[in-house]
Amino acid sequence: MDRLAGAGLADLGFCEKDLAQTASLTWRINVLKGERQAVIPGHVYQRPELLVGVADFVGDSYKLAKLCAQSPAKVIVFCGVRFMAETAKILNPEKTVLLPAPGAGCSLSESITVAEVRRLRAQHPGVPVATYINTSAAVKAESDVIVTSANAACILGRLFAKHPKVIFIPDELMGRNLAAALGKKVGEELIIWKGTCIVHDKFDAFAIALYREIYPGVRILAHAECSPALVALVDFVGGTGDMMGYVEKTRAPYYMLVTECGLGELARMRFPEKNFVFMCRLCPYMKMTDLRGVLRALEDPPLSARLEVPADIAVRAKAAVRRMFELAEDTVKL
Ligand code: 13P
Ligand code: SF4
Repeated sequence: MDRLAGAGLADLGFCEKDLAQTASLTWRINVLKGERQAVIPGHVYQRPELLVGVADFVGDSYKLAKLCAQSPAKVIVFCGVRFMAETAKILNPEKTVLLPAPGAGCSLSESITVAEVRRLRAQHPGVPVATYINTSAAVKAESDVIVTSANAACILGRLFAKHPKVIFIPDELMGRNLAAALGKKVGEELIIWKGTCIVHDKFDAFAIALYREIYPGVRILAHAECSPALVALVDFVGGTGDMMGYVEKTRAPYYMLVTECGLGELARMRFPEKNFVFMCRLCPYMKMTDLRGVLRALEDPPLSARLEVPADIAVRAKAAVRRMFELAEDTVKL
């Protein structure tokens, strides 16, 4: 209980009763985790008690994919959303991969189908398809390379060095941000899709000026899935890992993290000496996982929690994920 309180949960408002319940579940999960030779990756948007109590590693989509590929554990209990657990399964077909909240999807992942990717390819023959990791395994299998927010600009830059045109799917806003950063024309040089993240597409660019007035010197950081109008007004744009790195390396009177609320909570726990101003939204999918679900997954996982990817899809999807590791390797720090 003291460890959880000291790790930052007390500062986030967990009272004695919350801490006692959390400590009991945390203890049972950690005992079972050892018995089952399991590992628990946790995405930064997950509930704070999961991240400080039971997660073995915490990070962005790229870091979690990479660490899952390297883990010697027999079982992976993924605290995140389906596309992340599916990626872990693609990289570790021999392991048991469990998603404690089987309904944890993602609006981006649901925004494009295999048939739509094939249609795009047919419309733009010979053009490479770079696919955001927030997609299904079947869509990944149709792709040339997977990208995450941590490496999309770098990988697209490398593709443009060899090709006049690139297809980027499925996040429209991120596609527009990438096109602006790389100096490419949307629709001519960078072909994009119409998917959006239901969390990041709601942030309002108009609020930015107001916050700057109220909090002089505030550094405003936005996730790359936000609108180009908002991105144009902030001090830093990137993925969740880059945003945490920026907070760690800079000094400012206030920071505002325009993204899912979990990142702000994690930042408050990691950097208690810094001040955070909140402009965040909850991702309903990310918040579906809780300690009870993780315990259930370790004790007696329902069939729906077990990730399975058909072998023919997994092999092709893995090639696209591996291509990401090759292209990002020398530029992305773990
Ligand atoms: P990151 O890879 O930046 O952690 O993003 C994942 C995600 O789902 C953002 O909404
Ligand atoms: Fe998907 Fe957006 Fe939730 Fe990330 S925050 S998992 S992109 S819906």
